[in-house]
Amino acid sequence: MTAQILDGKAISQEIVREVRAKVDARVASGKRAPALAVILVGSDPASQVYVGNKKRQCENAGITSLAYDLPAETSEEEVLKLVAELNQNDDVDGILVQLPLPKHIDADKVIELIDPIKDVDGFHPYNIGRLTLKMPLLRPCTPRGVMTLLEKTGIDLVGKDAVVIGASNIVGRPQALELLLARATVTVCHSKTKDLAAKVAGADVVVAGVGIPNFVKGEWIKPGAVVIDVGINRLESGKLCGDVEFDAAKERASWITPVPGGVGLMTVATLMQNTYDACVNRKG
Ligand code: GUN
Repeated sequence: MTAQILDGKAISQEIVREVRAKVDARVASGKRAPALAVILVGSDPASQVYVGNKKRQCENAGITSLAYDLPAETSEEEVLKLVAELNQNDDVDGILVQLPLPKHIDADKVIELIDPIKDVDGFHPYNIGRLTLKMPLLRPCTPRGVMTLLEKTGIDLVGKDAVVIGASNIVGRPQALELLLARATVTVCHSKTKDLAAKVAGADVVVAGVGIPNFVKGEWIKPGAVVIDVGINRLESGKLCGDVEFDAAKERASWITPVPGGVGLMTVATLMQNTYDACVNRKG
């Protein structure tokens, strides 16, 4: 079997077009466009690329993007002060602080200060709590993007055995919650998990978010499984690759996401949805 490709490019474009249509209708009715503030501290090359992609998609979606590019030496106090100001600014609907932050800044403290109604990353404890209770306000972008990709492709999750590899706050844990809420049976694997190969081999759906190139071996994949690769790793050659051995896995899977062209594009498209949603939640 050769897997079909879960087309993050086409589906992310569809999402951005849908957001654009809603934004245009909003603006035509005399309301202002949604506005997203993006805070980037320092010059981590990967973060610069991600933030650049976010700004570009804001243009496509008709969303106003406000860039706060701060030097790496910016103090925690200054970042907290900026977040507090943006919380109060009625012209700002979404606040995103690009992670990782420099080591001298406590990311948890910064995230907790963001007004949950403007927390377009969905990382605030309030938003994670609401997701846990199946009453979400704003959902983390990558896991929500993965769910959209599966829904729009027509892949049913009810009763499926899903294995999530990685238990980060950004991907693994909220992804496990999303899959659980979609009524899959979920196993969350991490660095202390015993016999990962066997766990993956039993899975109908595998989501990998560990950040290690080719960590998930193609031979582990159960024939017919759906494989979602959240990893975006840059090899020494400069080429991007995922966490899954793509060429080997695609010979066994029924569906698989490519890297690039898969989940990464869905994350940014979902940020546009979340920013639109945040604007409507605040302003109607
Ligand atoms: N760094 C890696 N992924 C993300 C994300 O989804 N949001 C933010 N803010 N930072 C990230």
